[in-house]
Amino acid sequence: MKNKIMAILRDALQPLSGEEIGRQLQVSRVAVWKHIDQLKKSGVEIESTARGYRLVTMPDTPFPWLFGARAPLIHYHPELDSTMNRAKEMARAGCPPYTVVIADRQTQGRGRMQRVWQSEEGGLYFSIVLRPSVIPKEGPLVNFAVALDLVLALEQCCGIAAQVKWPNDVLVDERKIAGILSQMEFEADQITFINIGIGLNLNNRPEVTDKPAVSAMQLTGKRVNRAELLSTFLDYFEKRMTAFSRQAVIEAWKARTVTLGRRVTIATVRDTYEGLAVDVDEDGGLILEMADGARRTVFYGDCFHS
Ligand code: BTN
Repeated sequence: MKNKIMAILRDALQPLSGEEIGRQLQVSRVAVWKHIDQLKKSGVEIESTARGYRLVTMPDTPFPWLFGARAPLIHYHPELDSTMNRAKEMARAGCPPYTVVIADRQTQGRGRMQRVWQSEEGGLYFSIVLRPSVIPKEGPLVNFAVALDLVLALEQCCGIAAQVKWPNDVLVDERKIAGILSQMEFEADQITFINIGIGLNLNNRPEVTDKPAVSAMQLTGKRVNRAELLSTFLDYFEKRMTAFSRQAVIEAWKARTVTLGRRVTIATVRDTYEGLAVDVDEDGGLILEMADGARRTVFYGDCFHS
């Protein structure tokens, strides 16, 4: 009921009376009042005027009831060790695709290549459980899709022009604003789940180490509504995944990347490759032109632009 009331208030152009909301939901005015009272107690700013109820601001905290029809799939926690751990438990227990696990803070947030992902309040930290029908080889392209839709959501919600870096970072002027981590489990050639973990620097001040990082608030001077950004991202992403086309994803990724045409160093656990990043192949592998003119495709690793 709270989800429905929030959806009605969000879409209303003017204040709505308790009777009117009750009529739309076929409940009494008193029932509406009780739900609105609970919403207010949980931090939603709803103004009660002589003309009715008006939603003042959308809460920043990604409470499930802010997500309308998607609410049953949204699992919000003030704190977790890592959303990846919770998402893995849920995926193994058979949760539906597009289940989203969010935490305001993570005590053991992790990044790619065994790195720590600083997860203090203000950022957006979440994992999505996917059950795509694509074969495991195509898994990396899902990361491309995520990066692209983070770029679109940042553009729409904050007016920030971000770009994608191979394999799956989102940058603004060479500074990292979002990172993506994926974990896949499969049987034979069938994916049972791909969990994608996303860390977005929004209202936090990311620690700058040897890798430059920046948050949306540092770029625009304004706070970002995290719930709205997440909802925008999920809309773009679910649409792209539903009509998944590897060709379309690769083309869109190439149009937004800062990696191609650059001299890069790719560091894997065992090897380091240097070359000119000339293209990506149909699986998202990066094609390098080496000093001797030979071409080599790399599928994972840390990428450093020179
Ligand atoms: C990277 O760039 O190294 C990937 C960072 C991924 C961080 C996110 S935050 C939500 C999810 N939970 C984690 O522990 N990690 C991912």
